[in-house]
Amino acid sequence: MLPRNLKRWTGGAADKAPARDGLAPRHVAIIMDGNGRWAAARGLPRAEGHRRGVEALRRAVKSAHELGVEHLTLYSFSAENWSRPAEEVSDLLNLLRMFIRRDLTELHRSDVRIRVIGERDGLPPDIVKHLEEAENLTSQNSGLTLIVAFNYGGRQEIVGAVRRIAEAVRDGRLDPAAIDAAAVAAQLDTAEIPDPDLVIRTSGEQRISNFLLWQSAYSEFVFLPIHWPDFDREAFAAAIASFRARERRFGGRVAQAGE
Ligand code: IPE
Ligand code: IPE
Ligand code: MG
Repeated sequence: MLPRNLKRWTGGAADKAPARDGLAPRHVAIIMDGNGRWAAARGLPRAEGHRRGVEALRRAVKSAHELGVEHLTLYSFSAENWSRPAEEVSDLLNLLRMFIRRDLTELHRSDVRIRVIGERDGLPPDIVKHLEEAENLTSQNSGLTLIVAFNYGGRQEIVGAVRRIAEAVRDGRLDPAAIDAAAVAAQLDTAEIPDPDLVIRTSGEQRISNFLLWQSAYSEFVFLPIHWPDFDREAFAAAIASFRARERRFGGRVAQAGE
């Protein structure tokens, strides 16, 4: 028997046609990985790899613009990255502080809209202030949407959504029968952001590492064999070319020759 509500089973993916007829992906999400190995291969401290990683991040934002991408999500710090040595965590937090201080004005001038996903509770208060300032200053911009995933974990995000839904049921505001994929998606940090069409990971690692677990249900994946500090427009364009050559089916099928 067919499920009564197909949309509910697919999370609506079946009617999310590939963006703009297979031209550029509308939303690209990137797992920026390999800073440490990039540095180690050159006999440099890991911190230098992260510093060069910020330069690659700037290139990625600029290239996204040029390549027609509308939403760019960058995995900057995972909920699990706190398990790294304190000195490295502190280097990464300082880079975020510096990035916002140095780049926010220019991003705003370029009409970039910044959104931040991830857990803010427990972050140093000045970091929360920086993140809010970036979102508030750019909230009316209409160019590229830059989504910064900071202290982000896909499982944690889903747990938060489940908790809010359970509270709504407990308080009599929500009928359990009304809980569908759209209701869950609406409780995620990414509510109102389209699902990523393309997820890119650098460093050659082929895993998702708790990134956008729900949202990447029908994303195309490209794993690049370069480390993040080496990411440039050419690498970005190559990933997009690979995406454009794919056939997305969303569980359906395309007509065969002769049909
Ligand atoms: C990515 O590079 C940056 C973050 C995870 C914050 P890594 O620091 O993970 O570099 P590798 O994977 O150890 O080479
Ligand atoms: C994923 O990279 C997190 C970010 C890029 C921010 P990691 O380097 O933390 O992932 P694992 O540990 O190799 O899975
Ligand atoms: Mg890594």
